[in-house]
Amino acid sequence: MEKEQKIRLAIFASGTGTNAEAIIHRSLRIDSAFTVACVISNRKDAEVLKKAALFNIPAIYCNPDAYEDQSQYVDDLLATLRHHQVDLIALAGYLRKIPSAVIEQYKGRIFNIHPALLPKYGGKGMYGRRVHEAVLQAGESESGVTIHEVTEEYDAGPILLQQKVRIDQNETPETLEKKIKQIEHRTYPEFLQQIAQKMKGAQ
Ligand code: GRF
Repeated sequence: MEKEQKIRLAIFASGTGTNAEAIIHRSLRIDSAFTVACVISNRKDAEVLKKAALFNIPAIYCNPDAYEDQSQYVDDLLATLRHHQVDLIALAGYLRKIPSAVIEQYKGRIFNIHPALLPKYGGKGMYGRRVHEAVLQAGESESGVTIHEVTEEYDAGPILLQQKVRIDQNETPETLEKKIKQIEHRTYPEFLQQIAQKMKGAQ
């Protein structure tokens, strides 16, 4: 498979980027249908940008808060995506809303992963450890991972894939987070590979 035929993926992330790293590793496999065109973060000091740079992937800081004029921010973001010829977007721990113009342009090609079984335990403010704390406080017997399409509302787009995990006795937010991340690191890259394969087939 020639490099130029691959689907070009942009990863948006705000934090440490363990999912981003798993996706990058998957993209480097010989059978990968996608390549990571760039990693975009709203945080200048985000670990994920350092990780991307280690792989020689363009690591781009783009923060809506740094713009007085939000339409300029949207224009810059769209220009960045165009510049890197992005076909597909994966949010991986990205804590800002995606502008409607980007959602519109990438309709059906922009996805997010959430560390719980949506529609429960999602929405604004539900991220990271907080999600697992809420799940345990509610006394749930299972949690899991959800991959969904991104729409205007946080965590509310059509659900495309879920994987469940049992909650053990003595489970803590930390142990649950660890179990869920392991599933995420397997599931998200493979999901993106399948989407990229379908997109390639439709070209
Ligand atoms: C993941 O648990 C993902 O589900 C959520 O944010 C977390 C990002 O973690 N959206 P990491 O930065 O990839 O380690």
